Amino acid sequence: MTVPDVAISNLRDVPYFADDIADRVWRAWWEPRGFPFGHIAELVAGSLGDHHIPLALVAHRGATFIGTASVIECDLEERPALRPWVAAVWVEPTFRGLGIGASIVRHAAEAALSTGVERVFLCALPQKRAFYERGGWHLDEKDVGESRLDVFSMRRS
Ligand SMILES: CC(C)(COP(=O)(O)OP(=O)(O)OC[C@H]1O[C@@H](n2cnc3c(N)ncnc32)[C@H](O)[C@@H]1OP(=O)(O)O)[C@@H](O)C(=O)NCCC(=O)NCCS
Repeated sequence: MTVPDVAISNLRDVPYFADDIADRVWRAWWEPRGFPFGHIAELVAGSLGDHHIPLALVAHRGATFIGTASVIECDLEERPALRPWVAAVWVEPTFRGLGIGASIVRHAAEAALSTGVERVFLCALPQKRAFYERGGWHLDEKDVGESRLDVFSMRRS
């Protein structure tokens, strides 16, 4: 990442960003499906505990929220046996196209693999396929579920 002064921190170390994460994730994926904000705020709060997974990463410049990605146990009900997943990847619109998304996804994958699992998974709409393939993700499946998602994985090297 070539953007100066952008740090990537574990939410546990910068817990005051929890509301920013919940707000962006809720607006992007949960509000359109009718879920209340409190539901996603609780999920995000689950990343504040003293455990490896779930975890949330925050890209920030000082106190300015820039982006986020999480590692969670389950993300796709059609693939309940797979775990863990990188999910809830978001970069603020004014900071897009600078490599921050690629960087935070890479950090999240590394955090997941550092727990000792052989593989970490990710699902996305096909429009994001090139973004994830450039980041080294292997496309395992296409057209999964109602949203016809791609399923990717990355192995421990
Ligand atoms: C997907 C997303 C996280 C990418 O973040 P980012 O910081 O722009 O990612 P990068 O800068 O590492 O890569 C951007 C790439 O995506 C594309 N892109 C997407 N939106 C862009 C934008 N607004 N400006 C510039 N490039 C954009 C570019 O083609 C670029 O490709 P390149 O690497 O060949 O230049 C961000 O667009 C986002 O938050 N989108 C809304 C939420 C979302 O869709 N999350 C993913 C769910 S699977």
